[in-house]
Amino acid sequence: MSLKIMVYIIKSLQSGPAAVSLSVTLECSSARGRPSCCEQAHAKMAVEEDIFGTFFDEETKTDVLVKRFTLKNSNNVSVQIITYGATITTINIPDKNGTLADVNLGFDDMNGYLLSTNPYFGAVVGRVANRIKGARFSIKGQQYNVAANRGENHLHGGIKGFDKKIWAANVEGSKVTFSYLSKDGEEGYPGDLLVNVTYSLSEDNELVLEMKATCTKPTPVNLTNHAYFNLAGHNEGAKEIYEHELMLNADSYTPAVDAIPTGEIVPVKGTPFDLQTPKLLKKAIPETPENGYDNNFCVIQKNTENGLNLVGRALHPKSGRVMEVFTNQPGVQLYTANFVPEDDSLPGKGGCFYKKHGAFCLETQNYPNAVNQANFPNSVLLPGQAYIHTALYKFSVQK
Ligand code: BGC
Repeated sequence: MSLKIMVYIIKSLQSGPAAVSLSVTLECSSARGRPSCCEQAHAKMAVEEDIFGTFFDEETKTDVLVKRFTLKNSNNVSVQIITYGATITTINIPDKNGTLADVNLGFDDMNGYLLSTNPYFGAVVGRVANRIKGARFSIKGQQYNVAANRGENHLHGGIKGFDKKIWAANVEGSKVTFSYLSKDGEEGYPGDLLVNVTYSLSEDNELVLEMKATCTKPTPVNLTNHAYFNLAGHNEGAKEIYEHELMLNADSYTPAVDAIPTGEIVPVKGTPFDLQTPKLLKKAIPETPENGYDNNFCVIQKNTENGLNLVGRALHPKSGRVMEVFTNQPGVQLYTANFVPEDDSLPGKGGCFYKKHGAFCLETQNYPNAVNQANFPNSVLLPGQAYIHTALYKFSVQK
């Protein structure tokens, strides 16, 4: 049986609100006019595009439309990503009874994403995620000063990092790629950096991020996605986060003072950072020195066929929702939303308020401050080389 798939891309009118810009036409030689199950599966894989909102670009002094892309599969899983920050706004996944919940913290509109208190919800963070000590580093004897935006240190790419930029977007089949050109000197970094982040969603409920970058001068690069998860549902708060069981495939971590690694790489055995066997967060969090995790763990490296290693597994027993994370990166920041406010000052989707410990992040990354720490994995990208970072989130249910 021959199946001819024709994809028509209708460019959305820049002025038109919520214009759907991609449609899929399927033509099956054996059953013209009658959609078969395989046609339906393909149709669900189409990427839809609409307009999420507008953003006033200070640089060009113009209003820019923020586009939103929806990836769907035939299991009712859907993921939405917007061109502001290449940010994941929604991840709808079923529980063990098939009931969907959005497990990704975020906002209903651009006003939320533009809040100064937005803690990087769902965004791609860079040029260097996490911290650079003293907001400076040297490459080949030349010192560079980057923006100091967390005390005297540099955090998540600086004052206006990649999370606060409008990215170009391009749909190809069932994937969407976001691109951003970071210019030489932006936030103090050397050289142009061209970044492409491709999002795809498989029929096995795998959300895959392929982050790639190339540069014109040697520069540190450490991208991540800063999604905040609550497998009970984005608005279920700390009460349900504490019911999650979390396992991390990490046998060591990088101790830090004021969030800057000391340079040591220490076995987790016998410490509150040993999550090699699943631990209930209700028990694990109170055992940590600062009442919550905000630590870089060293992912156990194996020579796997696809180059990815298991980072960890989170289970919310009541809903049965499971998330496993895989990456080719050496580290992961486990962050349990410790600095999200305790009061009602961070309004989220659907009128809820996000609060401390109301989510967890598993930010695949190089170790923090790697550019200043010779014994950490290299973070300097050279012209002619490609930075390639895969992060894979696999969703399933456990009955
Ligand atoms: C950092 C935290 C920070 C949070 C939000 C995490 O990646 O490790 O220290 O507060 O992001 O900014």
